[in-house]
Amino acid sequence: MERKIDINNELLNKINNDLRKTLSERRYKHSLGVMEKAEELARIYNIDINKAKLVGLAHDIGKELSDEQMLEYVKENNIEIDNVERENVGLLHAKIGAYICKSKYNFSIDMQDAIKFHTVGNENMDLFAKIIYVADKIEEGRIYKDEEKMKELQTVRELANHDIDEALLYEIDSSIKYTIQKQKLIHPNSILIRNKLLKERRTLR
Ligand SMILES: [Fe+2]
Ligand SMILES: [Fe+2]
Repeated sequence: MERKIDINNELLNKINNDLRKTLSERRYKHSLGVMEKAEELARIYNIDINKAKLVGLAHDIGKELSDEQMLEYVKENNIEIDNVERENVGLLHAKIGAYICKSKYNFSIDMQDAIKFHTVGNENMDLFAKIIYVADKIEEGRIYKDEEKMKELQTVRELANHDIDEALLYEIDSSIKYTIQKQKLIHPNSILIRNKLLKERRTLR
């Protein structure tokens, strides 16, 4: 699929050029995929399309730093690191990405938060952050060899078109399941957002 950046959007263009230089081809394509999916969802849920595209494109800007570089980056910039991140340093790409986008592109707080929350979720996610989280997981470029995983992906893609909370809950549940399978640490923020979504669902029913 041919993906084009709107060349009249100066900041989007700048981020695109930066990413093309720094990310691997695979990750760069993923970033374009998330930008497109975020735009699509922003239209459905009536949120700022430009913001969705910018954050979708930039969300993994910190992802290809090594563990050592990430630890150095958080230390240098006084970014707080929690116990789970200390064990699973890769998770830090979310906080680091938000920090880079604040300092380099002047992203607003909600844009920074959407990047911060895109790996393990967070109880304070707003609609915008939910859209970015889900867009990251269902962008068109995502393909799994595992049939079961592909089926789950299809389910979230469909859910996302009409109920972002259900799509998010489904996605958080599968990532918790996956984390258990891998015997990795579950981030408490994933549990907190899951509980919140479940409680909200019950009050709606
Ligand atoms: Fe990421
Ligand atoms: Fe991503």
